[in-house]
Amino acid sequence: MHIENHKSLKEFNTFGIDCKASHFVSVSSISELKEVLKAPQFKDPFILGGGSNILLTQDVDRPVIHVNLKGISEISETDNHIVLQVMAGENWHELVQYCLSKDYGGIENLSLIPGNTGTAPIQNIGAYGVELKDVFDSCTALNLESLEETVFSKADCKFEYRNSIFKQELKGKVIITSVNLRLTKNNHTLHTSYGAIQQMLEDSKITNPTIQDISEVVIAIRSSKLPDPKELGNSGSFFKNPVLNAEDFQNFRLQNPEAPFYEISATEFKIPAGWLIEKAGFKGKRFGEAGVHEKQALVLVNYGNAKGEEIWNLAQLIQSKVKEQFGIYIEPEVNVI
Ligand code: EPU
Repeated sequence: MHIENHKSLKEFNTFGIDCKASHFVSVSSISELKEVLKAPQFKDPFILGGGSNILLTQDVDRPVIHVNLKGISEISETDNHIVLQVMAGENWHELVQYCLSKDYGGIENLSLIPGNTGTAPIQNIGAYGVELKDVFDSCTALNLESLEETVFSKADCKFEYRNSIFKQELKGKVIITSVNLRLTKNNHTLHTSYGAIQQMLEDSKITNPTIQDISEVVIAIRSSKLPDPKELGNSGSFFKNPVLNAEDFQNFRLQNPEAPFYEISATEFKIPAGWLIEKAGFKGKRFGEAGVHEKQALVLVNYGNAKGEEIWNLAQLIQSKVKEQFGIYIEPEVNVI
């Protein structure tokens, strides 16, 4: 194992924050991972995947293990479905492209989501009407203490909107090493109901879309409003969309009849945090090196040299203004370290 000391994590987080790790190791096999976890200097490690959902506000004084396990294999198939085993360090969007090249359907709506496959279950990534749980078969995770590997079924993972057991009870206790996805080989189920997808397909005069068409449309929509982390440091949606109960929602509606919303059930209503943040006056505003993206207020950006603390201060200012104006608490989606 190759241990590096005082390693800059700038290249390892999509916000591009220049914090340091006291000890850092990148592992590319499960045996190497187990060996590292047995080493005394790697007690209580911080596990790093694609770095697309973290905000580093200080140097990490815990040892950092970068999960770089690679490989995609076909585990089983029937006439209509295939189960792929994807190692945790595989880049998510490259996996989507691989599936499209093989005509495997199910994750085309999740095109261009930054990050790695192993971290996708942690927050049940989702976009344009599809969530990871819709194609999830199982995953394997290594217990940090016992070094035992356990298979988690979909039910075991307790998936919810941007949430799972790995963000709750098992936070910091296991490392996901691989994810099995169940995809369609033919008769793909297309998810085109998300407004902008339907519109763009119509504009492009595509009446009988393929999964490749859907991916292209999603890429076009995302690229038009979400900044590319390679050009402008960011972590996608910084906050979750808040969910209101029926009573709070009725009150909110009375005062904000023009607000968009999504009815989850008769008792749960999701309000776009981006809309709340825009109405609170933050969209496109810059505060030193930190800012709120001009095309999507849910995304906080690093203009180049922001300290994580600066971005976190801005996030807290936004939270308090939204609370003051609408009485709604918006919870960060990103893990603040
Ligand atoms: N809106 C505004 N102002 C803004 C942003 C949004 O008024 O600055 C309004 C839009 O007009 C629209 C509504 O909010 O009526 C929803 O906007 P959008 O379709 O862009 O989706 P979102 O709720 O802002 C969520 C996910 C995104 C995902 C999109 C598409 C969360 C926290 N975010 O955003 O996920 O790509 O839906 O499915 O659920 C991510 O998690 O990093 C991410 C980008």
